[in-house]
Amino acid sequence: DRITREAARHGRSVDEITSSRRLRRMRKADWSRRLVQETRLTVHDLIWPIFLVDGVNKREPLPAMPGVFRLSPDLAAQEARRAASLGIPAIATFPYVDLALRDQIGSHASHPDNLINRGTRAIKDAVPEIGVITDAALDPFTDHGHDGILRDGIIVNDETVDQVVAAAVAQAQAGADIIAPSDMMDGRIGAIREALDSEGFQDVAIMSYATKFSSAFYGPYREAIGTSGLLKGDKKTYYLDPANSDEAVREAEQDMLEGADMLMVKPGLPYLDIIHRLKETFAVPTFAYQVSGEFSMIKAAAANGWIDGERAMLESLLSFKRAGCDGILTYFAPDVAEILNA
Ligand code: PBG
Repeated sequence: DRITREAARHGRSVDEITSSRRLRRMRKADWSRRLVQETRLTVHDLIWPIFLVDGVNKREPLPAMPGVFRLSPDLAAQEARRAASLGIPAIATFPYVDLALRDQIGSHASHPDNLINRGTRAIKDAVPEIGVITDAALDPFTDHGHDGILRDGIIVNDETVDQVVAAAVAQAQAGADIIAPSDMMDGRIGAIREALDSEGFQDVAIMSYATKFSSAFYGPYREAIGTSGLLKGDKKTYYLDPANSDEAVREAEQDMLEGADMLMVKPGLPYLDIIHRLKETFAVPTFAYQVSGEFSMIKAAAANGWIDGERAMLESLLSFKRAGCDGILTYFAPDVAEILNA
């Protein structure tokens, strides 16, 4: 057979050849496995998404996301302090906005004292050294749950961009370090960059949710920010089709040309190929959002005793690093950090 011929050609025995091909050799001991490990997950890779709610000393559990809470700004600041002491570089905030403040065009999104901006100030006052990332999308503020302005059944692009830009500027004024627009409107990155620059926020970065797919995995998040009951229809006219990879590259390319500093792929695990492709193509800081449904699946299976939740969490996060991510937005962030620091 092939190995016999190979052995003959090299003047060696079959035994010698096969023993030289033993790939298990480097896996036999913990020390050598550690030595040859190609990819590593560290606390420096973690961005912690947290949910905000109005009030003081308020902590509301989310049934579909065990261990995750909506936090009032004071408690969010406390958690930010804990995150910083764990070595987590940044927090991303998402607000549950009072239903009375939501309207057709999401006008409250650009209010200087809305919940996102109060959250940012509370966190930055308490923990200036942690990065704060805010989402400039309108969905927490619209009464129909869409990320844009809805007119005659259509999400109108350019008017939405104007609103998203106003929200982004208000977020920068409140102290956000990175604006992360998740709305998927065309042209928003360039418009945000221009507005930030003209308002004196040249140092505020943009992490583009460049490839955000129309996904079934956002369910628990929509419960958390109170959009699931409101949302009419779906988001297929602005989020990407899960079937499309070339289109994801075009989205990312457009956002890079418009001035994005970082790219994000969302959801995460079902889209590792997209992460890999974007990293290879653009060679820029690339992030995955391990979204709520991904988190809840692991939690639910673990709660049933069907999988080892801790190992599944670590394996999924490591996979993002292997695929090419520089970091991961994950609701597991504090739990992972505790383990990595132990
Ligand atoms: C919308 C937005 C979504 C998420 C964050 N911002 C998706 C959606 O509701 O359509 C999902 C995050 C998650 O599932 O963890 N701008």
